[in-house]
Amino acid sequence: TRVAVLISGSGTNMVSLAKAAQAADCPYEVVLVLSNIEDAAGLQKACDLGIEAVSVPHRAFGKDREAHEKAVHAELQKRDVQVVALAGYMRILTPWLVREWEGRMVNIHPSLLPLYPGLDTHARAIAAGDTEAGCTIHIVTEGMDEGPIIGQARVPVMQGDTPDMLAERVKEAEHRLYPQILSNFVIQSCN
Ligand code: GRF
Repeated sequence: TRVAVLISGSGTNMVSLAKAAQAADCPYEVVLVLSNIEDAAGLQKACDLGIEAVSVPHRAFGKDREAHEKAVHAELQKRDVQVVALAGYMRILTPWLVREWEGRMVNIHPSLLPLYPGLDTHARAIAAGDTEAGCTIHIVTEGMDEGPIIGQARVPVMQGDTPDMLAERVKEAEHRLYPQILSNFVIQSCN
């Protein structure tokens, strides 16, 4: 299954997806890494892994979100992408793009959804006194950070954790979880 990974930043989840795809028995391949941020650090990481990396800067499209998404979509179609994995893609999608990829787009979110959709998840979990945090992979639907959950991993919140410390622990869990859940997803949805 031909997968594109959409990023906006460091792309560490993208790297874990791409590295897992190197295994002979992995059911997906990462054929494209696309960023809305021209100098996203993850683009260079993709190149280093021998994966085609492109940027489609949203700034060039001003306020016209759909026009930007149409340009993104064209890049995906050009490479015969079958499944899209969002991995730190910091744009809210319009219903248009969501419908185009209905049932074929997944996202990773750094909280135990339905807890803490949106930003600053780790600070919110700490402020709430939670003893557990984690990450969620879900199918993308029109509501932000909603949609059917297809995988979750839990980590403890430790006494004295800062948001950064917790983020790091959750990231390790993300990197283990995403390749595994994406593999399951493509097997179930594409075969
Ligand atoms: C991750 O924490 C992911 O859950 C969230 O954005 C972050 C992306 O990190 N959606 P990276 O770019 O994969 O390092």
